[in-house]
Amino acid sequence: MAQLLQINSSLFGENGQSSQLSRKFVERFLQANPDTHHTVRDLADQPVPHLDAEIVMGFGLSDEQRNGRQIEMTALSDQLIEGVKVADILVIGLPMYNFSLPSTLKSWFDFIARAGVTFKYTEQGPVGLLQGKKAYIMAARGGLYAGTEYDTQTAMVQHFLGFIGITDVEFVYAEGLNMGNDTKEQAINDAELKIDSLMSVVRSP
Ligand SMILES: Cc1cc2nc3c(=O)[nH]c(=O)nc-3n(C[C@H](O)[C@H](O)[C@H](O)COP(=O)(O)O)c2cc1C
Repeated sequence: MAQLLQINSSLFGENGQSSQLSRKFVERFLQANPDTHHTVRDLADQPVPHLDAEIVMGFGLSDEQRNGRQIEMTALSDQLIEGVKVADILVIGLPMYNFSLPSTLKSWFDFIARAGVTFKYTEQGPVGLLQGKKAYIMAARGGLYAGTEYDTQTAMVQHFLGFIGITDVEFVYAEGLNMGNDTKEQAINDAELKIDSLMSVVRSP
């Protein structure tokens, strides 16, 4: 049975355009692969705290050495990592806010990047430990950025996922969503067509 993990990071929860595209991807995937276990975390409803010194230092301690908050935060990190570890496929809703990714998604990234757990340093450089997965990113933007130097999200997200071992990453863009109704409608149609085209090549493991 395939395991599909969906992460939404729109401020608007399931009403966000990126969340709606993620939902479409998931619906189509489940139609084609009914024997799939689907889990979703919506970071608008279930945010992950901002990383701070106490939390990050707690990651490096044993349970006996951790204080109560460090135990709680490390358990949350372990739980989020386990969700990624068991997933074969990740679907991430990625809105653009103020030229960057949502801070909620950055916090989720901060909680799943753990030395010795999701990546390790070797003499040859860092090695990601969450290998053999495929990630689909549903990117929603008010303006037009894909393929330009102003698209800071694509490289960052690709690099981050690659750092923890997820190197097979596909982006679906819905851009120009704040550039009038016609442009918005066209962008969403194009993104849905892209999702459809991905379904013909996506294979359940
Ligand atoms: C707080 C905020 C900041 C935004 N900043 C940008 C931006 O920097 N560039 C851009 O193209 N669109 C920007 N937008 C538009 C969003 O990218 C667009 O509304 C997109 O649909 C957001 O995804 P969502 O609907 O999944 O939340 C911003 C929207 C909000 C609410």
